[in-house]
Amino acid sequence: MEIQYLPVAASRLPSIDFQHLGFGEVFSDHMFIMEFDGGAWKSARIVPFGPIEILPSACCLHYGQIVFEGIKAFRTASGSVQIFRPDKYHERFNRSCRRLCIPEIDFDTFLTALRELVAKDRDWVPRQKGYSLYIRPFVFATDSYIGVRVSKTYRFLIITSPVGAYYKEGFNPVSLVTSTEYIRAAPGGLGMAKTPANYAATLLPAQEAIQKGFSQILWLDASEKRYIEEVGTMNIFFCVAGRLLTPSLEGTILAGITRDSVIRIAKDWGIPLEERKISIEEILEASRKGSLQEVFGTGTAAVISPVGLIRHREESITINGGQTGPLAKKFYEEITGIQYGEKPDRFHWCVSVD
Ligand code: COI
Repeated sequence: MEIQYLPVAASRLPSIDFQHLGFGEVFSDHMFIMEFDGGAWKSARIVPFGPIEILPSACCLHYGQIVFEGIKAFRTASGSVQIFRPDKYHERFNRSCRRLCIPEIDFDTFLTALRELVAKDRDWVPRQKGYSLYIRPFVFATDSYIGVRVSKTYRFLIITSPVGAYYKEGFNPVSLVTSTEYIRAAPGGLGMAKTPANYAATLLPAQEAIQKGFSQILWLDASEKRYIEEVGTMNIFFCVAGRLLTPSLEGTILAGITRDSVIRIAKDWGIPLEERKISIEEILEASRKGSLQEVFGTGTAAVISPVGLIRHREESITINGGQTGPLAKKFYEEITGIQYGEKPDRFHWCVSVD
């Protein structure tokens, strides 16, 4: 693939305070764009980050035919820059595209676009541990048509953002509350796809949860409101009596790449692991019996996020005294160790941009 390059006249880099990065507020100098028209992806280019033109009649604005991804690039101690598991993110991207009737992008094109863009803006990849360059590929339907149908034209962009911790708590425990009123996704719906509708569905419940003093919602299944699903910004793991439990992927949960990484590492470490339906009652009961040792979330943005408290209806449980547990810490250190090139990349997860 040939990528045209139009560099910025002057980089915004000197104006960025890399010591105080939050999540997703600052964007690097360039972005990647290409269009789908006449049955093919074309006109790949890297251009200055800035506003894009879109017709108010573009169908994505009305019916949400949109898919996105969240990937990270890390700077290693030697100064090289590497992208974590781009193949897995690409697989999920195409899976989401299939669900939303969006044309897929082949891996070569996807990876070349990621690498070229990150290489051009490599000075934007933060130098401190705990920070990274968040990469946001997204694709949306552009037909000028406000009847409901599959679009024939699309635009694919990648923007990047130097980031710190996703939650204001950083690597400190967050608190979760279940919802007995709202659901995130129903069987047969969009739950497994990384599409804005899933996140839109969580905004009002999350706002209400925050007003009540919680960090996020712990989603339960839509049919029985009994089985634990995910947190909306991350998947969830429970350590009960030395066993690691995580909800199985039943089509309503996003197949997290960090979730997959934790599973691979847990198997490698010989930790007994069960991917299955987990009821909220089972977790409350484990807590009452004193066998619930740890709970943590996993996500690209959140990395490993310990959970210190869960509330379900009238019952609140505190996990590990509200402190980060040793297993969450061990997974955090292992995964970030691989990402920052401090530990051997024994699963071949990192792809250099150099
Ligand atoms: C990610 O972890 O990359 C996500 O997409 C979650 C998003 C809400 C920031």
